[in-house]
Amino acid sequence: MSKLLVTGGAGFIGSNFIHYWLAEHPDDEICNLDILTYAGNKTSLVDIKEDPRYTFIEGDIRNPDVVNDLIKDADTIIHFAAESHVDRSILGPEAFIETNIKGTYVLLEAAREHGVHLHHVSTDEVFGALELNSKEKFTESTPYDPSSPYSASKASSDHLVRAYHETFGLPISITNCSNNFGPYQHPEKFVSRMITNLIDGDNVKIYGDGKYVRDWLYVRDHCAAIDLILQQSKVGETYLVGGMTKDVNNLEVAKMLLDYMELGEDRIEFVTDRPGHDRRYAVDWSKLNKDLGWEPEHSFKDWLHETVDWYKANEAWWRPLKEEAESTYKKTGQ
Ligand code: NAD
Ligand code: TYD
Repeated sequence: MSKLLVTGGAGFIGSNFIHYWLAEHPDDEICNLDILTYAGNKTSLVDIKEDPRYTFIEGDIRNPDVVNDLIKDADTIIHFAAESHVDRSILGPEAFIETNIKGTYVLLEAAREHGVHLHHVSTDEVFGALELNSKEKFTESTPYDPSSPYSASKASSDHLVRAYHETFGLPISITNCSNNFGPYQHPEKFVSRMITNLIDGDNVKIYGDGKYVRDWLYVRDHCAAIDLILQQSKVGETYLVGGMTKDVNNLEVAKMLLDYMELGEDRIEFVTDRPGHDRRYAVDWSKLNKDLGWEPEHSFKDWLHETVDWYKANEAWWRPLKEEAESTYKKTGQ
């Protein structure tokens, strides 16, 4: 039996991870440390509220007393907690510096004190942007070149995690994953915003010319990748995790959704572009495939359809979040 300390487990990927882990590892226990920002949602975990294997602690990863107390009992830390939205980092970078850099530092110090393995969940955005129409993809050796306050803060946290491994011998692992989508994603993000807008009779909002390319990873595939890495990888490794085999731009993703939801292209609305908008991300996940045999379970199209079905069936989950998400976009004209 293992005891996991999950940070940010009330967020999108963290809550999916907790559900995934308890199903796949029924003898394990999980403590979820989350401060419940706008992105943290206890209703995502309401089904396991009474599960004896699960404990929720409302607290801040920047608080060394709270963190030290919880790490004492843990075998492994899975660190998801972060400010995660690029558009919000443009409106106000400070929280990103505080949580993503200082919060990670506090966890690293506590992990060092107690000799606990820390798995750091990071992003492909640390590598900056690739050229549109190029064949190039990010690999584990691509130099860091972040463009937004969000990606710069994540890059900084990655460097700290590696430095604690090199300098202090802290057992760590890192995943840099691409854009996740799936159940329990806040309706401020691209896929979840489009689906919920369409359900509401509103349009999908496409930034700029829509020819921006993201690498889409279904959240459950991401959780399975972290599981494999924790079970089988050497300490100190970094793995990229991604989903796409060929480029699909934002406009094409919107059209795939409209097609599945049987709606017309008149529901596409072009809006103000994001400043410093990265043109293209593409992830080469062959290291993870070669070393550990990981690959996505289904195609992007199938997972996208499953995601639409989930949002249609779970309006009670996303409805309370929708108004606040759209009010943020009023400030950016998007
Ligand atoms: P999210 O914004 O949905 O959730 C973040 C969670 O962290 C929330 O529950 C929030 O309450 C919590 N949190 C924030 N500050 C905290 C603090 N000081 N102390 C404790 N908890 C705090 O994020 P997500 O989409 O689930 O992303 C999880 C991780 O994966 C992040 O580190 C993010 O950078 C990374 N990531 C996400 C994506 C994606 O597509 N969502 C892609 C690549 C990497
Ligand atoms: P997002 O989900 O915010 O993730 P990230 O910025 O971390 O990649 O955005 C994904 C892509 O979709 C990005 O190119 C911005 C674009 N986008 C839109 O065109 N319309 C929208 O309403 C949103 C939220 C994003």
